[in-house]
Amino acid sequence: MTAKNRISARLGAIAPSATLAVDAKAKALKAAGRPVIGFGAGEPDFPTPQFIVDAAIEAAKEPRNHRYTPAAGLPELRQAIADKTLRDSGYEIDPATTLVTNGGKQAVFQAFAAVLDPGDEVILPAPYWTTYPEAISLTGATPVEVFAGADQDYLVTVEQLEAARTDATKALLFCSPSNPTGAVYSREQTAAIGEWALEHGIWVITDEIYEHLLYDGAEFTPMLSVVPDLADTCIVLNGVAKTYAMTGWRVGWMIGPADVIKAATNFQSHLTSNVANVSQRAAIAALQGGLDEVEQMRTAFDRRRTTMVRMLREIDGFEVPTPTGAFYAYPSVEGVLGREIRGKVPTTSAELAAIILEEAEVAIVPGEAFGPSGYARLSYALGDDDLAEGVGRIQSLLA
Ligand SMILES: Cc1ncc(COP(=O)(O)O)c(C=O)c1O
Repeated sequence: MTAKNRISARLGAIAPSATLAVDAKAKALKAAGRPVIGFGAGEPDFPTPQFIVDAAIEAAKEPRNHRYTPAAGLPELRQAIADKTLRDSGYEIDPATTLVTNGGKQAVFQAFAAVLDPGDEVILPAPYWTTYPEAISLTGATPVEVFAGADQDYLVTVEQLEAARTDATKALLFCSPSNPTGAVYSREQTAAIGEWALEHGIWVITDEIYEHLLYDGAEFTPMLSVVPDLADTCIVLNGVAKTYAMTGWRVGWMIGPADVIKAATNFQSHLTSNVANVSQRAAIAALQGGLDEVEQMRTAFDRRRTTMVRMLREIDGFEVPTPTGAFYAYPSVEGVLGREIRGKVPTTSAELAAIILEEAEVAIVPGEAFGPSGYARLSYALGDDDLAEGVGRIQSLLA
C-alpha cells in the first residue's frame, strides 16, 4: 500500500476544524499554567438552565430512556420541534417532516448528503462557518464561495449570487444570524434571496441555529416565513446548543420535504441511530420551557458585545462592522498586516493570530478558517472580566 492511497481521498481532504483546534490549543496552554484567554469557542459560557438539567436527571432514572429511540427521534420531541417552529417562525409543519440529529452539525452533513451528487455546485456565502465546505466536499460536490467583506457588512447580494450561478448550481447555503460574522440579513434581503433561489430551482439550506441571539433591534427572518413556496426545496437546520447553552448535549434537527427527511433518516439509521435518549428528553424540556432564561443570556451577550466592539474599534488598523446576531465579532485586521509587532511582521491573519497567541496569550480564530485571510473571529461568549482583559492585551500588543 502506498502512502498516497492509504487514507481515502475523501477523508484525506478534510481539514481539522480550525475553531476547535484554536480552542484546544488555548485549553492546552491554560492547562500548562499559561494565563491564556480564549476567544475561539463557539459556545455559551453559561450552564444549561436548571429546569432542563432537572428534566434530564428525571429521565435518566427511567429505564424506558435507557433504550434506543426511533432513528428520527422521540415522537414527543418531533412534536415539540413542530410547536416551537410555529411559535418562533410562524408556520405550521408536520412533525413527520423533522429529523432529530446529533447536534446541528449532523443536520448540516445529512442535509447536504441528501441532495448533492458529485459534480453539483453549492453557492456558499463567505465568510462561512468552517464546517460547511467540508460537508459539501464530502458529497463530491463543490463549494462556490461568494465573498462579502466588511465594506458590505458581510451580507451577499442577489447580484453576487446570480453571478456565481451556473447550470451545475444545486443549492445555496444561507446562515442568518451568521457564524462567523454576526451579520443578520433583513426581512427584505432574506426574501430577495429566497425568491431568487425559488426562481432558479435552487435548494436553500438555511441554518437558523442563532435565531434567538439578536441585538440592536435586529430581527430574525425564517426563510420559509417570507418565501413559503420554497418549502419543497428548502431544508431548515436548527438545534438547542446555542439558544439554551446546550452544546454538550448534542441535539439538533433538520426540517424538510418528506422525501429528504426519509432519505436522511435512512442514512442516520445506519450512521448513528438515534440521539441519546436522555438528551432528547432534555431538549423537550428546553423547547417547551419558554425563553425567559434565553433572554437573560442574550442580555449578558449584548453587554459583552458592546464592550468588545468598542475595544476592538480602539485598535488602529481594525475595522469592525457592528455584529447584530450570534455571539461573534469579526473585525477586518488588514490594517495591521505588514506592521512590525515585537520584531515580527505578519502578512496574513493566520500569522497575526499566532503572534497574538504567543505574545499576548490570547487565542483568536484567523479569517482563513472561514474564507479569505485578513479577518479574525472573536467570540464574546465568555466572562466580562476575561473579555476586557483579553481584548486589552491585544490593544497593548498592537499599540
Ligand atoms: C452556524 C452553525 N450551525 C450549526 C452549528 C452546530 O452546532 P451543534 O452541532 O453544536 O448543534 C454551529 C456550531 O458552531 C454553528 O455555528
